[in-house]
Amino acid sequence: MSDKLIIFDTTLRDGEQSPGASMTKDEKLRIARQLERLKVDVIEAGFAASSVGDFEAVQSIANSIKESVVCTLSRANDKDISRAAEALKGAQRARIHTFIATSALHMEKKLRMSPDQVLEQARLSVRFGKNLVGDIEFSAEDAYRSEEDFLCRVIEAVIKEGATTINVPDTVGYAVPELYGNFIKTLRERVPNSDKAIWSVHCHNDLGMAVANSLAGVKIGGARQIECTINGLGERAGNCSLEEIVMAVKTRRDYFGLELGIDTKHIVAASKMVSQTTGFVVQPNKAVVGANAFAHASGIHQDGVLKARDTYEIMRAEDVGWSANKIVLGKLSGRNAFKQRLQDLGVQLESEADVNSAFTRFKELADRKSEIFDEDILALVSDESVLQDNEQFTFISLSQRSETGEKPFASIVFTENGQEVKSESSGNGPVDASLKAIESHVKSGAEMVLYSVNAISGSTESQGEVTVRLQNSGRVVNGVGSDPDIVVASSKAYLNALNKLQSKSDRVAAQG
Ligand code: KIV
Ligand code: ZN
Repeated sequence: MSDKLIIFDTTLRDGEQSPGASMTKDEKLRIARQLERLKVDVIEAGFAASSVGDFEAVQSIANSIKESVVCTLSRANDKDISRAAEALKGAQRARIHTFIATSALHMEKKLRMSPDQVLEQARLSVRFGKNLVGDIEFSAEDAYRSEEDFLCRVIEAVIKEGATTINVPDTVGYAVPELYGNFIKTLRERVPNSDKAIWSVHCHNDLGMAVANSLAGVKIGGARQIECTINGLGERAGNCSLEEIVMAVKTRRDYFGLELGIDTKHIVAASKMVSQTTGFVVQPNKAVVGANAFAHASGIHQDGVLKARDTYEIMRAEDVGWSANKIVLGKLSGRNAFKQRLQDLGVQLESEADVNSAFTRFKELADRKSEIFDEDILALVSDESVLQDNEQFTFISLSQRSETGEKPFASIVFTENGQEVKSESSGNGPVDASLKAIESHVKSGAEMVLYSVNAISGSTESQGEVTVRLQNSGRVVNGVGSDPDIVVASSKAYLNALNKLQSKSDRVAAQG
């Protein structure tokens, strides 16, 4: 058995299914480039048949990524699979990932199909896909709750048709490590042609065991591919977290004995990029990428680490890219230095005009903030791509008044389809007043389900990064905005969320 562990990243597909985490084509492309820099083996770029937007995102990623395999999800039917193949046409290395549910519950209640129909559809879909793209992955959705004999029959049949990767998802996060590991082991022992495919694990985190289950699938079960996402992003409690898997396998090489292709130095930048793009803030005590992951607060620990680092540290912060958090640019930095830094951060803006516009915003920021960190630059270009993709509302300026004993008041100027609008309101705080001023003009009627502020870099001089989650007519979107003034950041985040709400992005749900 190979001792290489394949890292299959699904941040741009399963991660994006998290309510509010939807990304634009440019955002997805930027993250895909970072994943390639990380040397992820397979990038699941999206679900091409789900919407025109996702088709285009998969297509542009397929056309730009050279090192990693580019994959798209596809339901097990000819129409979806043809669309997937079309989106992947420009890829250097392409994979179609097709799936159908195999648990009795899903087949009966969701698909309303008999087991024999499901088996036949799985077989025919893999056969159809194999004629279009050589690399076919098959997933048995809700595999962990499927009846074992039936699952073995389906897997044997799809391997016969040419599936080269077999994925066994714990779709609802119900597994526990020992049982899941043994489940994979049993399937591999029982399926007669199991040695003709690479076995893959895909665990959701509903009981907080996605990483442990995936590692058990590898260690006990012999799987050699793990499906995971940056920051564990994903529906409900999320997916298995890439950074935890990678660092567990690397740090405990003595136990797992597996090779990884990942360049771990790019982990933190990937984590920040995903967090800033989606507005899903990383908790400070999150393993590997949380702000406290390498911070030692207690005196005893600090003393120990100063004397000998390995007294309390099992990994080196710089090995996952924490040292990248340094002052990079300031007020006197020129356009070339800015451009070079963008390149080092893996940001590729489409045209010189985009670079110029980002540079103007950088200069404006540098006038207000003496130290510009990598995170500031990433936030700035995030704003930039937001402005280009959804231009219905754009922030211009804000003035607000708040004083103890007085009702806070805000007056905001923004554009709506290019027309300047001024709106005013009072509120129970300056943020409330500003967002009410916007809403009193736009009248979206959206419900705010989350508001959070996060300091991008340590001090009070830091930019505030605000996430606003809005819900309207069953759609949930996250808006993100950053600025040294958190009231301005809040207004930008609110306008960004409104832009996303207005953009029509009807998509088919992968598990629908
Ligand atoms: O969780 C799941 O079952 C999935 C499949 C579509 C692979 O995401
Ligand atoms: Zn999933």
